Amino acid sequence: MQQRIIGSRKVSAIGLGGMPMSIEGRPDQDRSVRTIHAALDAGVTLIDTADAYHRDAGEVGHNESLIAQALSSWSGDRSEVLVATKGGHLRPGDGSWTVNGRPEYLKEAAKASLQRLGGDAIGLYQFHRPDPDVPYAESVGALADLLDEGVIEMAGISNANPDQIREAQQVLGGRLVSVQNQFSPAFRNSRPELDLCAELGIAFLPWSPLGGISKAGDLGSRHDAFAQVAQAHDLSPQRVALAWELALAPIVVPIPGASRPESIQDSVRAEELELTADELERLSAEALD
Ligand SMILES: NC(=O)c1ccc[n+]([C@@H]2O[C@H](COP(=O)([O-])OP(=O)(O)OC[C@H]3O[C@@H](n4cnc5c(N)ncnc54)[C@H](OP(=O)(O)O)[C@@H]3O)[C@@H](O)[C@H]2O)c1
Repeated sequence: MQQRIIGSRKVSAIGLGGMPMSIEGRPDQDRSVRTIHAALDAGVTLIDTADAYHRDAGEVGHNESLIAQALSSWSGDRSEVLVATKGGHLRPGDGSWTVNGRPEYLKEAAKASLQRLGGDAIGLYQFHRPDPDVPYAESVGALADLLDEGVIEMAGISNANPDQIREAQQVLGGRLVSVQNQFSPAFRNSRPELDLCAELGIAFLPWSPLGGISKAGDLGSRHDAFAQVAQAHDLSPQRVALAWELALAPIVVPIPGASRPESIQDSVRAEELELTADELERLSAEALD
């Protein structure tokens, strides 16, 4: 499996997004564990999660606990696997998502995530989403404290604009290792952030890289150019989408979600696909719906 860099760690070029295994529509625990094991067996060494990946009130950290459980029952080398979690988003249990970027809250949330994930420190902790009621530097300052205290090994941010990326890099004293923003064939508005990460040498993790849980299955029917290239190579349009993202810059590490082993087994093989310059140009130029 092709490797990419996040801070001090090497990870598989394709990661696994854990959200579909814990929110509305999630599968049973057995299928989730089989999905995570399938990813690990295929060479995935980056798993993305968040304390907010749960469905009901009272089950904060559902996805973190699931990943910890799947890792403990896996026979491979767990030390190779980077689990990236996030804090600052909450789900009250009515289907909505709220934010809390207060530093005291984030520090407590990170410690609770560490307890669920186990180990000495969280490999990568990402501030999930800016809180309009809290100055950004104060929220990111909590990550600096968590790094200094050894609660987290690396710090990242999510849903950030270019100014926030620069501000976070400054608050963290140059220790920002990753930015996780929405990016897919259907959503390309984060291209400035992707390009800035490439310039700064920071990993860029596209979230919903296939267009999101409800749309990922129809990627081919929504995006002609991706369907045509997929047909020419006799593989899925989802794989083409991930290969296109990988080709945009060496700092890109997509984290496709999955709730079935077959989905992630297909997605990881995107790293084998080398698209021609002409194909890349067609995919990048495709008119959006
Ligand atoms: N930072 C943030 O604010 C934020 C927001 C959203 C998501 N995320 C992260 O990003 C991850 C990915 O985003 P996402 O899960 O929303 O959307 P996504 O990755 O665009 O789509 C996920 C869906 O794609 C399907 N899929 C995956 N590989 C496939 C393949 N090769 N062929 C056909 N279908 C395939 C899966 O279906 P099955 O379920 O049938 O396997 C899954 O439900 C999340 O899991 C989460 O970790 C972060």
